Amino acid sequence: MYLNIQKEIGSSLIKQIYEQVRSMIIKGELKAHERLSSTREMAINLNVSRNTVITAYEMLIAEGYIKSVPGSGIFISQGAEFAKPPERIIDYSVTAFSAKELSEDIIGFHSGTPALDLFPRNKWSRIAGQVIKEAPDSAFGYDYPQGRPELRNTLAAYLKKTRGINICPEQIIVTTGAKQGLSLVAKLLLQPGSEALIEDPSNENVKKIFLFHTDRITPIEADSEGIRPELFPQDRSPALVFVTPSHQFPLGGVLSIQRRLDLIRYAGKTGCYIVEDDYDSEFRYRGLPISSLQELDNERVIYIGTFSKTLFPSVRLGYIVLPDSLVEQCSELKRLMDHHTNSLNQLTLMRFIENGELERHIRRMKKIYRKRRNSLIECINEYFPGKVRIMGETAGMHIVAEFTDVEFSPKLMKSIEGVGLKIFPVEEHAVIKGKHRHQIILGYAHLNNTDIRNGILRLKEVLD
Ligand SMILES: Cc1ncc(COP(=O)(O)O)c(C=O)c1O
Repeated sequence: MYLNIQKEIGSSLIKQIYEQVRSMIIKGELKAHERLSSTREMAINLNVSRNTVITAYEMLIAEGYIKSVPGSGIFISQGAEFAKPPERIIDYSVTAFSAKELSEDIIGFHSGTPALDLFPRNKWSRIAGQVIKEAPDSAFGYDYPQGRPELRNTLAAYLKKTRGINICPEQIIVTTGAKQGLSLVAKLLLQPGSEALIEDPSNENVKKIFLFHTDRITPIEADSEGIRPELFPQDRSPALVFVTPSHQFPLGGVLSIQRRLDLIRYAGKTGCYIVEDDYDSEFRYRGLPISSLQELDNERVIYIGTFSKTLFPSVRLGYIVLPDSLVEQCSELKRLMDHHTNSLNQLTLMRFIENGELERHIRRMKKIYRKRRNSLIECINEYFPGKVRIMGETAGMHIVAEFTDVEFSPKLMKSIEGVGLKIFPVEEHAVIKGKHRHQIILGYAHLNNTDIRNGILRLKEVLD
C-alpha cells in the first residue's frame, strides 16, 4: 500500500494517513477482508511515530472502515466501499439568456426583461447597507411568513397612490416573485378536478403552474381587448379565472370596462375567484394608469404584483393581495413553502419606495422604454411598410407584431435563429393552436436603439 505523506505541509500526519486509507477503502482500492499493514510496519514505512499511525487507525476503526481482530491483525471492513456516481456535468448555459447569447452576437427580443444595466445599483446598495446595519434583530431570524409589517404598510399606501387599490396591509402577502404568488394561489384554490379558466394565449409558466394541481385548464380566447367573457361556460363553476387585464400577456390588450364588469358578475354568479396578474402595468405610455379589477371587487379578486420589471428579476420580490377570507390559509402555505421572503431585501425595498427612489426609477425607465418602443415600431414600419400590424404598444415592455404574409413556422424560426436573432412566436403561448401563426412577441426594454435596428434588419434579411 502506497501512501504519500508530506511532512512539510500544514495538514497533520494523522489526518493524512486517515484520509488516504479512507479514500482507498471508499474507492474499492482496498477490498473488504484485506489485511492492513500493522501499525509498526506502517510507522517504519512512512518514517513516522507509531503513535501517529495508531491514532489514525483508531479513527478509522471508530468510523467502521477497518476492524482489529485480536491476534490476527487489522482488516478492511465489509461494506465500506462506495461507488461514487459519475461526475455530473452541469450546463450553466441553461438560463434565460444563455452564456452563448451573452458572449456572441445574438440579439434577443425577450419579453419582460428590464434594462438591467440602467438599474441604480449604487442607490440600492447604499440602502441595503443601511438596512443591514440598522434592521432590528428580528429581521435576521425566522420572520413573519406574510412579510415584514413595515413593507406591507408601505405597499398598501403605494398601491393606493399608484393603482387606486384600497386595501389593508393585513391583506398582503409578500412573495418571492409573481410565480410564487401564482403557485400559492393555485395550491389554495385548485384540487385535482378543479377547473381553471385561463386567457388564451397566456404565459406558458402560468399554465404549467396550474397544471401541477389540475388537468382541467379551459382556454378562453383573448382578442385585442383581452379575455372574452361571453365565452365563459355558463353551466359550470370553475375554481378560478386567470387574467392579465391591464396588459394582456402576450397580445397586449386592455380589458374594457364592459368585459371587466362581465367578469366580476360571472365570479359573483359562479363563486369563482378572479386571479389578476398585474405584471407590467407600471409602464404605461398612453392615457391614465389602468385601474385594477381588485378595485371593483375586494371579495372575489386576488391581485398579484411583482418587482421583477420595476427593479430586476433576480431580486425575487412580489406580493399577493387577498380577500380577508383567504389570508390565514395562504400565510400558512407560505410559511410551509419557504417560511418567508428574504427580510433584508424586503426592508431595502420598503426604504426604496419610502425614499421615492422606486417612482423616480420607474419615471426614468418609462422615458427610456417609450423611446425604445418608438424606435422598434419605426424600424418595423420602415423595413416592412404596410405589412405589419402592431399590437399592445400602449404599455409594458413588449409589443406583438402581426405580419400579413408571414407564418412563423418552426422551420422559419430555425432560419431566424441562424442569423443570430431571437424572437418569440405568440403561437408558443397558445393552448388552442393555429390562430396566432402570424404573430411574434418583441420585447424591447433591455435593447438599445442599435440592437433594435440591427435585430429588425436581420429579420428582414431572413424574410426577404
Ligand atoms: C404574465 C407574467 N406574469 C408574471 C411575470 C413575472 O414573474 P416573476 O415575478 O416570478 O418574475 C411574468 C414574467 O415575465 C409574466 O410574463
